[in-house]
Order: sequence, then C-alpha cells, then structure tokens
Amino acid sequence: MSTEMEKSSVTLPPGSFGVPIIGETFNFLNDPDFAKKRHQEYGSIFKSNILGSPTVFLKGPEANFFVLTNENKYFVVNWPPSVKMLLGQDSLPLQTGDVHTQRRRLMAQAFQPRALAGYLPAMTAISDQYLERWTNMETFMWYPELKNYTFDIACKLLIGLDQASQKPLSQWFETWAQGLFSLPWNLPWTLFGKAYRCREQLLNGIEELIQKRHQQPDQGNDALGLLLRARDEFDNPLNLEELKDQILSLLFAGHETLTSALSSFCLLLAQHPSVRDKARAEQAQFLGLPLTTETLKEMTYLEQVLKEVLRCIAPVGGGFRQVLESCEFDGFTIPKGWNILYEINLTHQKSEIFPAPEQFDPERFSPERAEDKTKPFSLVPFGGGLRECLGREFARLEMKLFAARLLQEYDWSLLPQDLTLVTTIPTPHPKDGLKVRFSRQGKRD
Ligand code: HEM
Repeated sequence: MSTEMEKSSVTLPPGSFGVPIIGETFNFLNDPDFAKKRHQEYGSIFKSNILGSPTVFLKGPEANFFVLTNENKYFVVNWPPSVKMLLGQDSLPLQTGDVHTQRRRLMAQAFQPRALAGYLPAMTAISDQYLERWTNMETFMWYPELKNYTFDIACKLLIGLDQASQKPLSQWFETWAQGLFSLPWNLPWTLFGKAYRCREQLLNGIEELIQKRHQQPDQGNDALGLLLRARDEFDNPLNLEELKDQILSLLFAGHETLTSALSSFCLLLAQHPSVRDKARAEQAQFLGLPLTTETLKEMTYLEQVLKEVLRCIAPVGGGFRQVLESCEFDGFTIPKGWNILYEINLTHQKSEIFPAPEQFDPERFSPERAEDKTKPFSLVPFGGGLRECLGREFARLEMKLFAARLLQEYDWSLLPQDLTLVTTIPTPHPKDGLKVRFSRQGKRD
C-alpha cells in the first residue's frame, strides 16, 4: 500500500486542536466540564491538543479495557511535562518496562495484607486524635482538616514522621501539588515555578530523613525502611536520587487522593441521611469491637457506600499514556506519538452501565444489582492492568476505618456554603472547604 493510500485510510477522531502551541490547554485546566462537553458533541472519543501534545480522550469500559490491557504494546505511561518534572523520572508512576515491574514488586511489599494489618493501630490512634479534635472544634472547615489527617497518616506509616501536617513539609506539598498540572514555565511567579522550588525543599527534607535512618541500628518496617533495605537484581541498593523520588511520589499518592475520597464521603453522607442511617445501623453490630482487617471486611453495606463514593466523585479523573504504535479504536486511528487520556470519572457516569448515574445510590453495588460486574473495567477508581494503583488496599483500609469510626460515634451536618466541586486540579474538592458542624452522637442540641 502506498503512503498516500495509507494516509487516506486514516480516520482521526473528531475534535479540535484549538489555537497554535497552547491548543486547548487553558480550557482543559479551567473548565471542569471540558471533556464532558466535547463528548456530547463528538461521542465517546475525541481529539484535542493539551499541555503541549495532541491528545485523544476516551471513555467507557471498552476504552479502559483497550488502554489498560495494552500497556507497553500500544501505550506507555506518559504524564504531561509538568507532572514528570515535579514527580521525578525515578518515581514508580513514571518508570516503565522492566524497571517498573521490578520496582513495583519491591514496593508492593509495603502494601501486603500483613503490612496493612500492622498499620491499623497507628491509623486508629491518629483517627481518634482527629475525631476528638473535631469534637472540640464543633464548627470548622473539614477539607483542610482531612488533608492534615491523611498527610499525618501517610507520613507516619510511610516514613515514620509524627504530626507531619504541623511541619513545613506539609505547606511545601500544598504548593507542589498546585503546580502538578500546569504549563512547565519555571519562573518565580508561575504555579509551576513555585511548585518546582517546593520539590527541591521536599527532596532535601526527605534526604535528611534518609540520613537519620542510616544512623539508626534498625531501618524500620515502613515503606522507607523497606526501600532502604531493598536490593536490585545486581544486589545494589537504590541510589539516593531514586529513593527520594520514590518516597515523594508515595507521599503524594498516599494522601491527596484520599483527602478527596474522604471529603466526598462526608459530603455525600451528609446529603443522603437515609444512606447514613442504614450505614449506621450496620455499624451497630460492631460497636465496642476492635476494628481489625477481619471486622472491616464484614461491613458489606459500608463497602457498597464507599464504592459509590468513588464512582460518583473519582479522586483521579483519568490517566495519561503515550501511543507507542498507531492503533485503531472504535473505527478511529490513534496515531503513534500522540497522547491519550483514559477517563475514569466519565466512565463512571455512563448511564448504560450505571443507570441514573447522577444519583448517589449504594444499592447499585448490592449482590442483586452488581452494576459494576456487567462489563469489566466499568468501575475503575484505582485504574487497572499493570499500573493499577499500588496503594489500593491501603486506601480502602483507611477509608473504611475512617468511615466506620465516624458512623459509630459522631454526627455531622453541613453549614450553608457553596458546595460546587472544584473538579480538576489536582483532585476534586469542595469549593468552600466543606464547612461542617461536628459533634459526638447524642451530645448535641
Ligand atoms: C482513594 C485513593 C486512591 C485512588 C482513587 C487512587 C487512584 C490511582 C489510579 C487511578 C492510579 C493509576 C493511574 C494510571 O493509570 O496511570 C494510581 C496509581 C498509583 N497509586 Fe493510587 N490511588 C489512591 C490511593 C493511593 C495510595 C494511598 C497510595 C500509596 C500509599 C497510592 C499509590 C499509587 C502509586 C505508587 C501508583 C502508581 C502505580 C504504577 O504506576 O505502577 N495510591 N492510583
């Protein structure tokens, strides 16, 4: 076949590249309904030009299946330049091929069932401290509090640091995360420039922690200890630069997404009292029992509620990949060298899979309805395939523990505020910070 004929047989997905160089980047970053609007116009696949690359957006279980089972064949992970520069090339989310497989195997040890069970006492203690604090505060903005809570848990369990939210590290993270999805202009006043300077401060802080660990007789059993003891196939330890990148990405992944998930849980249950009552009725069976991994597993209705929270407001909206080899999907060619974005949040809104998707309805995950089981890759809050979330079980454990403690003993109601969700950067969060009135059950009014 001649090159001309090949060219003429190529049908690119519909869509617009926007203006030269910038493309549609500003619309993508500022309009939470960017993809939704274009899907309405073009269907379940469209092209655009964002963050410096032609990019195809895809949604739906079939698209997820296509993307997530063809990792390393048609697709390879490729986050926008700002994410790459801020996370660091030596971090797991950016590593590829054999190095990725080997590092993933190694780091997965920190998230195995035995390790998770060992994390429970510290998770419970930190949860109880915060619940006590919120009871005393009575009215407050919950989102920043939840961020401190998840940050304290991540830092304690991953790097052994106590009360990290009260240290400068926490502020550096905040600024760093704000630059993650931005144009990578490294100037003192740009979001990216500020974030990049915070990356340097964060790496210095992590390096100090590593040096301190080296001086201790025991390296510890947290993720940092594990990575310090780890050896590659040539029996070499991870070098300092990789260690710092790996820890930075774990700390980020370990708290930003969870903050979003927990605040969505608090918001949706405050808005749906009947669900909260039913979840509370289930908790009545567990009152006074220690919260172990076994008891948490028995909370099946809570499990449905948490699934529905992650379906309605997915903390990670989607994943970027680069196209390694031109391929076809849904009758359209996706050219080599372009980027794609598989869309988690919009897959969860497909009414063919989840009828009345705008309704918060945990019953859709009951054994009778099991809407997520009709098609594989329908419910994908944690992604899937070779790059499925490494911290999935850690996240599920923390969400369940938090939700169970809250339902068992506390009451919360929302104060008047704008409840619009700021849905994109870096994770969905309530615009006004989720202002709440909080009390121990039976102690109010
Ligand atoms: C509700 C909470 C969480 C959600 C919704 C979530 C979601 C995701 C998603 C969708 C991906 C895959 C992105 C892709 O396909 O490119 C991912 C990857 C990852 N997540 Fe999570 N995550 C959560 C919590 C965590 C936690 C607690 C940790 C660690 C403590 C973590 C560590 C990671 C890592 C290291 C990766 C990269 C895996 C790889 O590339 O092999 N995540 N996460």
